[in-house]
Amino acid sequence: MSMSIGVLTAGGDTPGLNAALRGLGKAAESIGVQVIGFYDGFRGLMENRMLHLEGSTLSGILTIGGTILGTSRDKPDAMPVGNKLLDMTEAMVYNYRRNHLDALVCLGGGGTQKSAYKLMKKGLNIITLPKTIDNDIVLTDVSFGFDSALGVATEAIDRLHSTAHSHHRIIVVEVMGHNAGWLALGAGLAGGADVILIPEIPYDIAQVAEAIVRRSRAGKRFSIVAVSEGAMSRQDYEEYKRLQSNVEKENKKGKKKGQAELLEFETYRRGSTLRLATRLEELTALESRVTILGHLQRGGAPSAADRLLATRLGTAAVFFIQNQRFGVMIAARGEGVEAVPLEEVAGKRRVVPLDHPWIASARSVGTCLGD
Ligand code: F6P
Repeated sequence: MSMSIGVLTAGGDTPGLNAALRGLGKAAESIGVQVIGFYDGFRGLMENRMLHLEGSTLSGILTIGGTILGTSRDKPDAMPVGNKLLDMTEAMVYNYRRNHLDALVCLGGGGTQKSAYKLMKKGLNIITLPKTIDNDIVLTDVSFGFDSALGVATEAIDRLHSTAHSHHRIIVVEVMGHNAGWLALGAGLAGGADVILIPEIPYDIAQVAEAIVRRSRAGKRFSIVAVSEGAMSRQDYEEYKRLQSNVEKENKKGKKKGQAELLEFETYRRGSTLRLATRLEELTALESRVTILGHLQRGGAPSAADRLLATRLGTAAVFFIQNQRFGVMIAARGEGVEAVPLEEVAGKRRVVPLDHPWIASARSVGTCLGD
C-alpha cells in the first residue's frame, strides 16, 4: 500500500508556508505518496477537516503569502472547546490512525514545535519544519518567513527616513519579533536606524535621549528608533523579573495573585512604544511620531530567499519520511538541511546572543543600543 502523510500549518502565518506545502506536496506526489492537509493547525486534525494536497491544489501557490490550509494558535492539550480549554490530544491520535497516516508534518514556530513534540510522545511519527518571522527557533540557521519580514521592515525604515528628515522628527518604529530581537536588529541595521532597542538589551531611556540629542547637535535633526515589540526599559525589566519570580514562588504554593499581576504588567507593556516616544519628546524637545508595523510584516508574498528555503525544507521532509526518520525538526544548515531531535527544540527559544556579529556591527557604525 502506498504511504500517506498529513501536514498542518500552526501558529502565526508567515510568508513561505505555501511554498513549503507545495515543495512537500510535489515531492511526495512524484513518488506516489498521498498528502492530506489539515485545516487551521491542530484544530483541523482534531476535527478531521482536510484538503488533499495534489495536482491543482499545489499549483500557483509558490508566490502566495499566508497558508492555503489556514492556521490557528490552538494547542492539542489546551484546545478551546465551547468555553473550556480541553486536552484533545487523544482525538488527534485517533484521527491520525483513522486516516492511516504514516507521518504528520507540522509547520510552525516555537509553540508548534512544543505541541508536535507532545504528539510525538503519544507515538505519532512526527516531522516539523521551522517557520516564524521571529527567527527564534533553536538549532536551525534560520526559519522561513524571517527574510520576507526583514525585507518589509527594512523597506519601512527606508521610507520613514525621508519623512523624519523633512519634519526634523524622531520616528519610533515598532517591529515584531515576540521576545527576540532578530527582526528589529536586522531591519534596524539594514535600514540604518540610529537607535535599535531589543529585548536582549534592556534600555536606559536617558542613553537613548542623549544619543538623539548628540545627533541633533551634530546637525542631524531627525532620528529613527527601531524598537522590538518585546524591548523593555531597565526599570520595566526589573519589574518583570520581580513579577516572574513571584509567580515561580507562588506556583509551588498554588496561589494565583502573582499570575494576575504579571498579566496586568503584560497589558501595560503593550503601550510601551507610545510611552517611549512621549518620553523621548520630553527629554529631547524634538517632536516624535510612532509607526507600528504589526501584521504588515507577516502578510504578502514570500521573498526569493524564503521561497528557496521553504522549498528546500518541504522537499527534504519527504526524503526523511521515506527514510523513516521521525521525531525530528528539519533544520536549515548552511546550503543543506539537517534533522535535529525534536526534544532538543521543544520549549526552547533562540534570542540574539550579546556577542552576535550584528550587535558588534551596529555598535561599530555608531548605533545606540540603549545601554
Ligand atoms: O510569532 C510571530 C508573531 O508575528 C510575533 O512576532 C508577534 O508577537 C505575534 O506573532 C503576533 O501574533 P498574533 O498574530 O496572534 O497577534
